[in-house]
Amino acid sequence: MKHDKASSTAFTVVQGILKVANDPELGHLVAPDHVEACERILRGSAEGRRRLAQLDSPVFVKLTSLVERLLLPGFTAHYVLRKRFIEDEVRAALTRGARQVIILGAGFDALALRLATGHPDVTFIEIDHPATSEVKRAALGETPPNLHLLAQDLAARPLREVLTESPAFSAERPTVFVCEGVMMYLGEATVEELFSSIRSLTGPGTGFVFTAVAPLGSPEDNTSTILRAYLKVKSEPITWTLRPGDMQAFVERQTYSMDRIANDALLAKAYHGQPLNRRLHEGEYLVSTTARGGAS
Ligand SMILES: C[S@@+](CC[C@H](N)C(=O)[O-])C[C@H]1O[C@@H](n2cnc3c(N)ncnc32)[C@H](O)[C@@H]1O
Repeated sequence: MKHDKASSTAFTVVQGILKVANDPELGHLVAPDHVEACERILRGSAEGRRRLAQLDSPVFVKLTSLVERLLLPGFTAHYVLRKRFIEDEVRAALTRGARQVIILGAGFDALALRLATGHPDVTFIEIDHPATSEVKRAALGETPPNLHLLAQDLAARPLREVLTESPAFSAERPTVFVCEGVMMYLGEATVEELFSSIRSLTGPGTGFVFTAVAPLGSPEDNTSTILRAYLKVKSEPITWTLRPGDMQAFVERQTYSMDRIANDALLAKAYHGQPLNRRLHEGEYLVSTTARGGAS
């Protein structure tokens, strides 16, 4: 992760969502307010405007689709499927009474922005590296009063410290945490620290929804070695992986229960309703958990 520049992958995710929104087969998976929020975020920076302009180029769209088919089949659709799952989990947590949503490594994700106005009694907190967080803050300009962007490096400072010093955070509010497309960059010790921080910050009953990545070459992975090498060059090497079959035991060791686990095959079935006419991503999957009571 380069500390002086906004995350390139955070831009790629938003650009990918807008690309899927224009896709005749999958466009229905991206809600109109999601498209609007993504465009607003991208319009706010030179790099974002460059990414928007690329989407208007048929050559760019064709070329990136070809590269994706070779290196990372199904990954752009995966961005949309994973965001749909996370949105459903967060909305369900709000229905159950969550009053605080904390998004770790939020990048240019639009969920908090989209939900904040309709849920004025819920606090939304996003945390990301200063370089990325500041680009987003500048792009958004005025934000709803219940949406807070914290510019912090979670590898450099414990989450506990970052949140307890923020006046926006309340340890008393029922909370759901989200960590999407991030934990694979953190390393196992930082990941375990995250679980224990979350549990000690807002206690048993806290929801934690995240994505995890299966090891390269495992049966649950269809990404190419070239892609992993590219992420290394981009200073975003993958440092934490776990096979889906090992996730429940891992989560239980962190004193959490595993509520749901889903891969793209399941998500495509749930959200598209019929088999997709393309290869799906295999590698990153979704996990929804709840911090348990008792000794950790
Ligand atoms: C692949 S992007 C995902 C962004 C967003 N969660 C999404 O899925 O749209 C990874 C994000 O994690 C952030 N990130 C990675 N390591 C981080 C750290 N140590 N502290 C804070 N943010 C971090 C990056 O800045 C980037 O925005």
